[in-house]
Amino acid sequence: MCIVYDTKKGSTSHIANWIKEGLSGEDENESLIDVKLAKDVMNFDYDLFIIGTPIYWERPLKSITNFLTKNKEKLNKKKIAIFIVCIANLFGHLTDKYIQNNYLGALERKIEGKIIARGVFKGWLRKINYNEKENVIRWAKELAKKIREEGRTI
Ligand SMILES: Cc1cc2nc3c(=O)[nH]c(=O)nc-3n(C[C@H](O)[C@H](O)[C@H](O)COP(=O)(O)O)c2cc1C
Repeated sequence: MCIVYDTKKGSTSHIANWIKEGLSGEDENESLIDVKLAKDVMNFDYDLFIIGTPIYWERPLKSITNFLTKNKEKLNKKKIAIFIVCIANLFGHLTDKYIQNNYLGALERKIEGKIIARGVFKGWLRKINYNEKENVIRWAKELAKKIREEGRTI
């Protein structure tokens, strides 16, 4: 599988690697887990793509929406999981609908493949939010479980 992301300040890079940590050891077949910046993805020979972006000025990064648009056909037969990194979720459940429609929705509208999971993670501005690591790892383990239950490998 391939975890694809972009970042400006680095938090999404930490989160992408925490996802990898959470998935490691969960797959009997021990498939390779690649973590790549969108600009470095040359090969689409993966079953599952986990695609993530931080939110800036109410939008996912252009590099990620462009990646989805440019590779729409290559991705439409793949399993896809998406995640976003933002701070709007600091306001609690009031913002859930907003985040779903505007942040995740902006990615979903560009995806034709099957979206098997969606993650919303708390980003940060300066200091790394290690509190979020547990949530990220839990999400990754749930994702691995979902894939196992579907009788596929990850
Ligand atoms: C200039 C700027 C604009 C931002 N705009 C939003 C926003 O519109 N909504 C939101 O939820 N978070 C917003 N954030 C928070 C970022 O999503 C958060 O800091 C994230 O962790 C950044 O990811 P990165 O370190 O991978 O670049 C903004 C942050 C900055 C610095």
